[in-house]
Formats: sequence, C-alpha cells, structure tokens
Amino acid sequence: MAGSEVDKRASAGEALGMSSACERVFVSGANRGIGLEFVRRCLETGAVVTAACREPDEAADLRALRDEFGTSLVVERLDVTSEESIAGLARRLAEARVRFDLLVSNAGVCEREGFGEWTMAALMDQLCVNVAGAALLCQALAPMLNEGGKVVQLGSRMGSLELNLNGAAPVDGYSISKAGLNMVTRRLANHLAERRVCVVSMSPGWVRTEMGGEQADLSVEDAVGAMLAAIGRLGFEDSGSFLGSDGCVVPW
Ligand SMILES: NC(=O)c1ccc[n+]([C@@H]2O[C@H](COP(=O)([O-])OP(=O)(O)OC[C@H]3O[C@@H](n4cnc5c(N)ncnc54)[C@H](OP(=O)(O)O)[C@@H]3O)[C@@H](O)[C@H]2O)c1
Repeated sequence: MAGSEVDKRASAGEALGMSSACERVFVSGANRGIGLEFVRRCLETGAVVTAACREPDEAADLRALRDEFGTSLVVERLDVTSEESIAGLARRLAEARVRFDLLVSNAGVCEREGFGEWTMAALMDQLCVNVAGAALLCQALAPMLNEGGKVVQLGSRMGSLELNLNGAAPVDGYSISKAGLNMVTRRLANHLAERRVCVVSMSPGWVRTEMGGEQADLSVEDAVGAMLAAIGRLGFEDSGSFLGSDGCVVPW
C-alpha cells in the first residue's frame, strides 16, 4: 500500500529516527508553545502521545488534536510543582501499563526581574518548575521508559555558565534555574545509564511563544522540527550532554 497515509506516517517517523509508527512519547507543558508543537509533530509521525498540562479542560488546541488523531493522543493533568499531581499521573500511567520511548520535559516558566528586584518568590517559583519539577517528573516516569529510550529536557543557552549570555537582561532567575536543570540532566544520565536511556538538555533557540515573545528568531514549527531531527539522531553515547536544536554541543 505504498503512498498510503500509514506509510507516509511511518516514513516521516523514520526520517525523525523513530523506529516505527508506534513510538510512544510523553510531553509536559503540552497545551501551548513548544510543547504543543512537539505533540502535533509526533502525532503526525504516527506516534502515540501522552500530553500533560495543568488544565486539560481549558486546553482547546489539545482537544482539537484529540478530534483529529483520536486515541493516539491521551491528555493527562499535571502540575510539575505538585508532588501529589506527579504521583497521581505516575499511578494512572502505571495502571495503564504505558511505556515511553521519548520523554520531553518541556514545562517551564520565565519571570522577568532585574538585579535589585530579585525576590524569593520568583526565584523559588522558577527553581520549583524548571528544576525540581523537571527532576521529580523524570524520576516518577523513569520506570516507564523503555530501554534505549530518550529524555529531552528543554534547556536554554541562558543556563550556560560558560556563555553567560545577556548579562543585563532581567532573566537572572531563569538563567540560574536552567543552569540547575543542566545538572538534573547530568545526574539523570548517570541514574538511567544502566538501561541505556539517553538524557540530554536541548536548547530550542529563541522561539516565538508566550515565553519567547514576538521578536524571537524562530517559529515553533522550525524549532521543534529541528529538535525532532536532532533527537532522532541521538544515541546513548550522547547521554549527559547539552545540545542545541541542531544537535551540536552547547558549552556548559
Ligand atoms: N521560547 C523560547 O525562546 C525558549 C528558549 C529556550 C528554552 N525554552 C524552554 O522551552 C520550554 C517551553 O517554552 P515555551 O516557549 O513553549 O513557553 P510557554 O509558551 O510559556 O509554555 C510553557 C508551558 O509550560 C507549562 N507550565 C508552566 N508551569 C507549569 C507547571 N507548574 N506544571 C506544568 N506545566 C507548566 C505552561 O502551562 P500553562 O499554560 O498552564 O501555564 C505551558 O504549557 C520551557 O522549558 C522554556 O524554558 C524556551
């Protein structure tokens, strides 16, 4: 049945390095921005996707994808700052005996506060979502990752100690948190090595989303397309690295 919709999806999946049209993917922060585009693109390649967001009832774009892709999309409630929410999600997924080949840990926040205006509330909020939330989510879903699976943390060049970009921009708390997230990646890479799970931080570039703003360089389509191609090329030997959306190494 060459040229059929199934064939087209399977070959699109192969182009992304996905082994078959049955790839299982998990995405957090899936209701908008980069997360939503990951969901859409993975569904288009024939993957079965679990899309997690804080308010499924208000996730109109996910509902539209659900209408289009049916049971290939499962929408779950998740707030990464709540241990109870993470545990509930893990319990439901375990009961459903779900396994994942790719976990996209995407949920994140960026709060603008300049030096002199830093507050405990904003610093803790960003550490809570971007570092602790990502760490606890990955810990909870780790048992559901297939051997040879992949974990992608949505990192940022703003978290690179070596680049130390945009020193004057009021995003110190965000930069601090994304530097912390990079250590989550390194530690997870150690813990999941036995099962040959590849864990990376990946910076998407500057992307036009609510967080990135309208002036950003990249559309979500281009950014996520590039990241999926890079993810497809990842091997276990890449585990523990910090990469750009082109798959090239970003300095820590
Ligand atoms: N855009 C860029 O230029 C850029 C650059 C580098 C890295 N990144 C990273 O890429 C990721 C996605 O960014 P984006 O640009 O798509 O941002 P976005 O449009 O602001 O979307 C952020 C997503 O994270 C979710 N989220 C926030 N707090 C959460 C929580 N406590 N629990 C669960 N989900 C939560 C949001 O859900 P709600 O709708 O419920 O708030 C939303 O779905 C982030 O980790 C970000 O740091 C983005």
